[in-house]
Amino acid sequence: MTNAEELLAAMQAQVGEGQALVALSGGVDSFVAATLAQRALGERLHPVLVDHGLLREGEREEVEAAAARVGMNLHTVDAASRFLAALRGVTDPEEKRRRIGHLFIEIFEEAAGKLQEAYGPIGFLVQGTILPDVRESHPQGNRGMVKSHHNVGGLPEAMALTLVEPLRHLDKPQVRELGRSLGVPEAIITRQPFPGPGLAVRVVGEVTEERLARVRRADAIVRHEVEGAGWKEKLWQYFALLTGAPSVGYREGRRVWGEVLAVRAVVAQRADAAQVAPFPPDFLFSLAEKILSEVPGLSRVVFDITGKPPATIEWE
Ligand code: XMP
Repeated sequence: MTNAEELLAAMQAQVGEGQALVALSGGVDSFVAATLAQRALGERLHPVLVDHGLLREGEREEVEAAAARVGMNLHTVDAASRFLAALRGVTDPEEKRRRIGHLFIEIFEEAAGKLQEAYGPIGFLVQGTILPDVRESHPQGNRGMVKSHHNVGGLPEAMALTLVEPLRHLDKPQVRELGRSLGVPEAIITRQPFPGPGLAVRVVGEVTEERLARVRRADAIVRHEVEGAGWKEKLWQYFALLTGAPSVGYREGRRVWGEVLAVRAVVAQRADAAQVAPFPPDFLFSLAEKILSEVPGLSRVVFDITGKPPATIEWE
């Protein structure tokens, strides 16, 4: 069922006169689910964007602009400093994910509480769960939560909300098609996958404000250059990450220590297997030069030449 009218009717039947929350992440699935809910429920939908400070450059503004375009009354919660505090000293990737997940729920609950004070009881939570999420979480096809590493996991249980999952039976291309038919901006529709815990898992080792700023700037350069060279449609993901490896560089006749930044770019159909993007050497050389001339604190740039398997797409 990809027909917007049928999905709208099903949602209206489920929610009745009730009110619903939705957490926007910037990803296409949650955005399309929210847009559909916006159509079905109007002012009884309350979309929330928790800005955990781990988003990419310009991402928050892009989501806010897209939400305005489809008529959503988005509530953005600025929580960057709380996430930074929660991540201080943490280097284990799973511990990072766990802390981010917990804090996300805490902040979302606070936001929900304020919305309930203003608008009355809210009984439903709209989620952008799609068919591959359902299959991944429950190989036997049981009804259940989205992947545990998605940072909205755990919300409905914690808050006694009834889940509304309009995209459960759709695959990614169908979600994009539906989104286009609902007027979702192309920047959201064609967005590359981005982990819920955001740049925290693209900074190997401790997450600090300085390292976040560094990876965010380098990532923006990678995206700009890759897209400018016409690669966007051919790639599954392309990004920068901080490896945590110190390395010596050579500038103005002196040896200077800095960190190694890695560029990762892959071709894939689904997230379970990926090949390295076949970038021409000249493109890579000039990309490294741009990054090193614009981003302080780095000594060298490497390109990850490992497929999945044996490597994963993210480094941690
Ligand atoms: P890996 O690194 O396992 O990633 O090859 C497969 C896909 O999943 C994304 N990914 C995540 N998504 N929370 C998410 O929502 C996470 O913690 C997470 N870790 C990896 C990754 O970007 C890739 O698309």
